[in-house]
Amino acid sequence: MITTGKAPVLAIDGPGGSGKGTVGQILAQRLGWHFLDSGALYRAVGVVAKRENISFDDPPALAHLATSMRIRFIPQTDGSAATVLLNGEDIGDLLRTEESGKLASIVAALPEVRRALLQKQHSFRQPPGLVADGRDMGSTVFPDAVLKVFLTATPEIRAQRRYKQLIDKGFDVNLPRLLDEIRERDARDAGRAVSPLKPAEDACILDTSQLDISGVVERVHDLLRERQRSG
Ligand code: DC
Repeated sequence: MITTGKAPVLAIDGPGGSGKGTVGQILAQRLGWHFLDSGALYRAVGVVAKRENISFDDPPALAHLATSMRIRFIPQTDGSAATVLLNGEDIGDLLRTEESGKLASIVAALPEVRRALLQKQHSFRQPPGLVADGRDMGSTVFPDAVLKVFLTATPEIRAQRRYKQLIDKGFDVNLPRLLDEIRERDARDAGRAVSPLKPAEDACILDTSQLDISGVVERVHDLLRERQRSG
């Protein structure tokens, strides 16, 4: 349902490697909507906290960092990951490492950090619309999204996708270790008390294990058109 006066939101949630980032960026581009990669916000908090020696046992300090970060995304036209500027510094490469994913998953379990990032995420909602990607876009951050999609895929397929992405970027990675990390991160994200990784009750669940990116993009775009026609 679109709330009067607010830009429409397409929420795309799911675990890492489900394809949500690529699908979200392509759709944002096609629709001419803004794009929010909420995982990058959590990754930025994790990476900067480590760099600045902020303790991971100090939730108020981490929340303060989350509130004070000035972060901007510059979308890429080819669907590849957006450039991310933190206080003007390009931190895109720092955010795409497996370590940053792990740090993100740790800070993301803290209610103080999630609360601090809520307002920042809401500020991305600007006309003509927003494609928001993450874990809790539909369930918590944008409960009035016009369409909520939850993408899934088996851990093995997601590990293979991540492996290919990282190898293509020139990173040295090990597939079995990547699979272990994905399982570990899924368990932490699904098991936390606040905003655990699970589909919103009214989300459309789409298993992407057997679909390529363009198949997922078309399916989600069809669902959005249907929803907009009926809304
Ligand atoms: O989507 P990603 O791999 O960039 O996310 C990194 C971590 O951040 C992931 O382990 C869980 C967390 N996250 C979250 O808790 N809520 C979100 N909306 C997005 C990411």
